[in-house]
Formats: sequence, structure tokens, C-alpha cells
Amino acid sequence: MSEARPVVVLTHPILEPGPTLLREATELRLLPNQYRHPVEALRKAAEGAQGMVTQLMDPIGEEVLRTPGLKIVSNVAVGYDNIDVPTATRHGVMVTNTPGILDDTTADFAFALLMAAGRRLLEADRFVRGGAFAGWAIDMLLGHDVSGATLGIVGFGRIGRGVARRARAFGMRVIYYDEFPATPEVEQELGVTRSELYPLLSEADFVSVHVPLTPATRHLFSSKEFATMKPSAVLVNTSRGPVVDEAALAHALKEREIFAAGLDVYENEPQVHPELLKLENVVLAPHIASASVKTRSRMSEVAARNCITGVRGGRPPNLLNPEVLDSRR
Ligand code: DGY
Repeated sequence: MSEARPVVVLTHPILEPGPTLLREATELRLLPNQYRHPVEALRKAAEGAQGMVTQLMDPIGEEVLRTPGLKIVSNVAVGYDNIDVPTATRHGVMVTNTPGILDDTTADFAFALLMAAGRRLLEADRFVRGGAFAGWAIDMLLGHDVSGATLGIVGFGRIGRGVARRARAFGMRVIYYDEFPATPEVEQELGVTRSELYPLLSEADFVSVHVPLTPATRHLFSSKEFATMKPSAVLVNTSRGPVVDEAALAHALKEREIFAAGLDVYENEPQVHPELLKLENVVLAPHIASASVKTRSRMSEVAARNCITGVRGGRPPNLLNPEVLDSRR
């Protein structure tokens, strides 16, 4: 008699080869198409499952994690602030993410936002399409140079470092703030200098944010931080929306306390603060920094493989809470 296959819940569709891998190895249950599943629906879906493949809009807390028999929650993202990892650990549930896959794609996009906001690219596009282009003018749509400017990177992990590499090619001076300093070798290789947060904010022409969302980074950027930045500065956020106080940012942009912003993430996704929507000096993208065909497929594959390894009782490569395995021994 063949053994029953482990049950895995897929909360939202993922890209191939993820679904094929999961279907081959597990009994796959795909939840009905809905952007934000209520916690009760997630809890019910988890019943009888050994694994879940989740995404950043799925709140995975106590209600889900205490499900008997649940072994692994595999998030299709590098960020995992939607999952209560300490509670997962307490219940013996493994949690995995997809690190190291989307660094370049996200760093590329952060740079695209930086350039678009600094050089007013989307405003220019709207200007032309709106029929306002009546010929070259010396003072038309003046922006700020990227080349030779000072870039402040807040959060110097893999993605922040990727942005630093790109900045070097633009002849930028790069300073970074991170509570954990990079090694002198890394600083030398990337040509960067560590700074405290407020000196960085007052010196940088461009500030790119790459911190995870934690209680300590929620609203890391608010009125005080914008007031510290240069009136010509540009803020770029591709990390998590709640790191930036959106109401304060809208105010700072409107009052020209800072020059512009480029955002990929929002405090209450998919809602965008209504004041931001009215402003010309902010470039708004719908959380697509990792959205290349190659990267999103690879994220799907890695999340599927993490989950399959976990439901089979193995140690998934991207395990965030290895203590879970210690308690099993
Ligand atoms: C992540 O991976 O955390 C991104 O926000 C989605 O790609």
C-alpha cells in the first residue's frame, strides 16, 4: 500500500515550476482566489495539512501555527514579517523564506526608482502625453544628478549592498547605516563608509531603504527624519511600507521638505495614502521590485522545494528557525 502523500496548502498561485514540483510530491490544495484571506480561512485551510506555501499578504500567527501536524510554513518572499516566527518555533513549525534570489532584481528596481524620481521621469512622461511639450526649454523639468551624488543606504544587507555596487558605476559616494557594521573588507570592496543614521540623512542626496520590518524599524522614517534630509534629497523605499510614515512623507513632499520619492511598498497595501496619489514628485510602483520572470519563477521554485523538504521531515535550506529541529531531537 502506498503511503499517503503530505497535504500542502498553497494560499495563492505561484509560478512554474513551483506548482508542478508540489503536485508531484504532495496533495496540493489551492485556496480560492482572494487577495487577503481572513485568518479564519487560513486556520481552516491548515487543518489536516503538513505544509503551507504562503505569501506576504497572509497573516500567519497563533491561530494557524497551533494546527496539529503542521510542519512548515514556506513564504514566497525574502521578507517574513507576515509570519510570527517565535510562535512558529514554540509550536515546532519550521518557517522558510527565499533569500539570495531576488537581490539583483530588487537592487535594479531600487536604482530605477532612484533615477526615475531624481530625474522626474514619470512626470516627464505625463507631461509629453498630456500635450504640454512645446519644445526644448532651459528650465524644463529640472531634476538632480545621480552621477557623483551621495547615496545613503539604510540597511546594508544583500540588497543594500547590491544598490551600492550599482551606485559605484555612477560615480556616487556611498555611505550606509546598519546596526551591524559590514566588515572592513566589504567596506573596502564596495567603497562605502558607515555612518550613523542622522548624519547620513543630512548628507545624502539619495536615500535608499533596505531594512526588514520589525518593531524597531516601523516608521523609521517620519517627520523628524524628513526634516533632517536635504530639500533636494530623494527617498527610495523597496523594503516594507510601514518603515515609512506615509502621511509624514506626503506632507514632506508637498511642502518640498524633500525633493522626491520612489516607492514600491506601502503602509497598508494595496491602499496608497490618498495624499501621495495627488503628488507629482513621487513615483509609485505596485510592489514589483522582485518582479522579473526569472526571479519570481525561482522564488516559486525555492519556496516549493523548501516546503517539500519540510513536509518530508528534512531540513529545508532556508530555514529561519533551526531551533525547531533541536527541540525535535
Ligand atoms: C520580498 O521578497 O520580501 C518582496 O517584498 C517580494 O518579492
